[in-house]
Amino acid sequence: IPVEIYKTPDEGSLAVAKEIADLIREKAAKNEKCVLGLATGSTPIQLYAELVRMHKEENLSFKNVVSFNLDEYYPISRDSINSYWIFMHQHLFDHVDMDPANIHMPNGELAKADVRAACEQYENMIDQAGGIDLQLLGLGHNGHIGFNEPGSSLFSKTRLLILDNNTRIANCRDFVNLSKVPRLAITMGLGTIMKSKRIVLLAWGNKAPTVVMAVEGPVTDQVPASYLQMHNNCTFVIDELAASELT
Ligand code: F6R
Repeated sequence: IPVEIYKTPDEGSLAVAKEIADLIREKAAKNEKCVLGLATGSTPIQLYAELVRMHKEENLSFKNVVSFNLDEYYPISRDSINSYWIFMHQHLFDHVDMDPANIHMPNGELAKADVRAACEQYENMIDQAGGIDLQLLGLGHNGHIGFNEPGSSLFSKTRLLILDNNTRIANCRDFVNLSKVPRLAITMGLGTIMKSKRIVLLAWGNKAPTVVMAVEGPVTDQVPASYLQMHNNCTFVIDELAASELT
């Protein structure tokens, strides 16, 4: 996997924001939609802040952007402060000129009986949009991408799954306590992610042990991000700390 190493998360975030802005503009010039796959979590916050700045100061328009988020907790109401719906609106959607109709996120509010059909529909919507032009990813300490925990199949699609306990512990920082962290989530599958035309994974700081497993370790379902070694257009954008264990 090609790895781009920046001094700081700031510098890496700016570089990826620039790649995304260039893609949005290039597609707009051709009158095409730009289909972005988006991630939440702490890792992409600076990147979203830079995209918002480019919208405000450099006329970057999001009118042609169609987005599909990777995942959402289940169950969770959209207006919960912990929902990824709120996260994305706070960090990006509320500050740019995206058409709300172009925003897609797995729905944590569905009745359980409706989840399976909604997941199938999510896959269909991605296909109908022409597939994802650029998928942003973060990296879990256990190697998860989206919420595809170790053991996920390379062919998995959007689905409801059980979060690993260490994922719940890692994400507990946002909640009152561990018991309040949802046990389930809806996530795009590894198969969904691998279909993207381009993938950019971001990782900073203390992700170094996971980065080295994903980039240099064997391709294994025990480290879902290692499957990215099989993608033909995937780059890891990391900072010096996250690169510290690479050989
Ligand atoms: C979030 C997601 C997760 C996170 C990962 C890292 O949409 O899909 O895979 O990217 O858990 O989270 P942070 O960035 O908070 O370290």
